[in-house]
Amino acid sequence: MIEQIDPATGRLRHLLTLEGLPAEIYQELFARAEGFLDEAGDRVKRNDRLAGRLMVNAFFEPSTRTSLSFEIAARSLGADVVNFDVRNSSARKKDETVADTLGVISHLGADLIVMRHPGNLLDELGDVHSERVRFINGGDGSHAHPSQGLLDVWTVHRELGGVEGLQVAIIGDILHSRVARSTARAFTTLGASVRAVGPPELMPDQAEMERLGMRGCADLEDALRGADIVICLRIQFERIASAVELDSGKFISSYRIDSQRLELAAADALLLHPGPMHRGIEITSEVADGPRSRIFTQVANGVAMRMALMDLLLG
Ligand code: CP
Repeated sequence: MIEQIDPATGRLRHLLTLEGLPAEIYQELFARAEGFLDEAGDRVKRNDRLAGRLMVNAFFEPSTRTSLSFEIAARSLGADVVNFDVRNSSARKKDETVADTLGVISHLGADLIVMRHPGNLLDELGDVHSERVRFINGGDGSHAHPSQGLLDVWTVHRELGGVEGLQVAIIGDILHSRVARSTARAFTTLGASVRAVGPPELMPDQAEMERLGMRGCADLEDALRGADIVICLRIQFERIASAVELDSGKFISSYRIDSQRLELAAADALLLHPGPMHRGIEITSEVADGPRSRIFTQVANGVAMRMALMDLLLG
């Protein structure tokens, strides 16, 4: 089992999950990320803090935002970057284990490997043979997407000056969402309350909701009323078992966020979505592109947050 935090020093060695990550590490990352932004606060400043270091994006599943964001973040720190699409590799076609593939990347000289995987990376990493390399989970199955959770909570922290005491509503496909799990944990660690709603077939059971620190709501109105932050999720059609019949029409009529429904939230509520959006299904374009939306701000903030993370792990 790989230790995320070095027990001797308390320093972050890898980022695999936000479960158990102390609030002090969030604050450290927030400060570093802020320091990487220009004076206007909306673009990163390039530097060479990681010159000579090698970051490999090893993606066993497709990605747009996460892989590009890590690549741009690494290049903005002066690091070298290799993008490895594992899905089309001999490793995959010749049935190499995930641990062996990651061991190969490490022994080829990677200092940091960012991985995305459809399964459970904590299990897969148990057998990796390398002490030197650092790992970041870029999203595994329905388990965790910790860098997304960090950029989500930092986006709100930057907008509102903090998250303590906020009411956060997460809407949609909670069951399959690694974003819901990591983002909810990020908000609760920093003192916000999280509630969630979605079709019953897309909700975790009560024990899982309690473990995740989320209150299940009776209906959308219950979830939205007075919420400071509204987070729409992507419906994970690719993870919904064929046995589950998801009626998109029913989802739209009961759970899609539109301007009328957003009125139920607090007057200055912010709207987030991790992307990619199914416009017209989870969210209307009117609100996705409206004044409360911070959806593209999340994307922009992701670069500085990922720079902060790489700097903390490798600096
Ligand atoms: N938010 C997110 O993980 O998007 P990608 O699948 O494009 O990386």
